[in-house]
Amino acid sequence: MDKIVVGGGKKLKGEVFVSGAKNAVLPIMAAALLGEEASRIENVPSLRDVTTMVRLLRVLGAKVNQADHVIEIKPGNTLRPVAPYSLVSTMRASVCVLGPLLGRLGCAEVSLPGGCVIGARPIDLHLKGLEALGADITIEHGYVKARAAKSLRGAEVYLGGSFGSSVLATANVMMAAALAKGTTYIENAASEPELVDLADFLVKMGAKIKGQGSHLIEIQGVRKLCGATHSVISDRIEAGTFMVAGAMTRGSDVTVRNCNPEHNRALIDKLRQAGVVVNATANSVRVRRNGLLRPVEITTLPYPGFPTDVQAQIMALATLTPGISVITEKIYPDRFIHVSELNRMGSKIFLEGSSAIVHGVKRLSGAPVMASDLRASAALVLAGLAAEGTTEVHRVYHLDRGYERIEEKLSALGASIKRERE
Ligand code: EPZ
Repeated sequence: MDKIVVGGGKKLKGEVFVSGAKNAVLPIMAAALLGEEASRIENVPSLRDVTTMVRLLRVLGAKVNQADHVIEIKPGNTLRPVAPYSLVSTMRASVCVLGPLLGRLGCAEVSLPGGCVIGARPIDLHLKGLEALGADITIEHGYVKARAAKSLRGAEVYLGGSFGSSVLATANVMMAAALAKGTTYIENAASEPELVDLADFLVKMGAKIKGQGSHLIEIQGVRKLCGATHSVISDRIEAGTFMVAGAMTRGSDVTVRNCNPEHNRALIDKLRQAGVVVNATANSVRVRRNGLLRPVEITTLPYPGFPTDVQAQIMALATLTPGISVITEKIYPDRFIHVSELNRMGSKIFLEGSSAIVHGVKRLSGAPVMASDLRASAALVLAGLAAEGTTEVHRVYHLDRGYERIEEKLSALGASIKRERE
């Protein structure tokens, strides 16, 4: 296993380029199973989760070639409908093969993903949506067994949960509906940019979809889908992580390139409220940390609200912000595994239910830390950038799930950071 060693206190200067979006490429890779010909996906980030999805597609019988940042997926005609526990248990996003398998084969057996450190991660909305399309679904021995007696049929599906809408449930229903007989309306659909990118890929394959990016999506089922070539959008969460990195140390001046500022409006607004200077162009965001920071109040919400996937990162900044910041987590109320580790670095964070009360401190001190959540690990790296002394972030494989070469990108900005063997 590797660890990342960060020497704190360096000003970050320069530009950093964002990779393709993890949360777009994973459902898009699954959607390629719906095509009767090969698909070519470009701007694919080099991530552990992508490697896991490649392995899963191969287990399902697809031929997959991966070279540099391009993946070719040939579904072929001998797809198998079983996604095994051994793979699904390592990456919850594997659940998004459920819709394509059901749509393409009329049956699917996918291991229940189980929970993870950020929450229970139920899939009741996925199953509700697929049942509305006519699938018979049972849960047997830890697997979801779905079967469509005849072909799936279009339906009106309301995907509302107590936490707002569900991103991957919307993806699963949209993918299954693409080959259903008739028209499907997904009400209270998730509107994340990654779902717009998935819909754009499906449309290139021949699907008939309208309303993507809104909370009402209409899918008119077609008889078959072809292959397509598609370049994945840039990763707004990686971009947001580097925007926060550019605010961690006084005197930093970082330009995040190859990103879409429109996808980060909520974060940019909060950074500006905190006193960070943020200038955006059509495909870049420049972040400068000059003066004192101001405390903020943040509540995570479904897109376009403040993203839960940047909650830990903005908390790292809040720990050094004079005054009291309040961060409330509405999507995953337990997503605070980073709090105890940040407190070990000298921050003063108190949890009140699903809110973190962050009392700003003058300095953090470097320490050996670890987190078993991808974004919590990123937050600890950010805290290490500003801490006095050295911070060692252990279990770096969590970071590698969602960040491509993060230590190289930060090092190129002037950070003292390197990867070492444990
Ligand atoms: C996607 O997960 C992302 N993952 C997550 O990013 C992200 O945090 C999340 O959306 C919210 O934005 C991928 O896209 C691969 P949800 P997803 O279904 O789709 C509840 C990261 O760090 N819910 O939108 O699994 C659920 O418990 C990852 O990159 C149900 O109750 O999230 C949660 O509270 C972490 N029933 C809320 O909805 C369901 O059937 C949102 O979950 C499904 C979800």
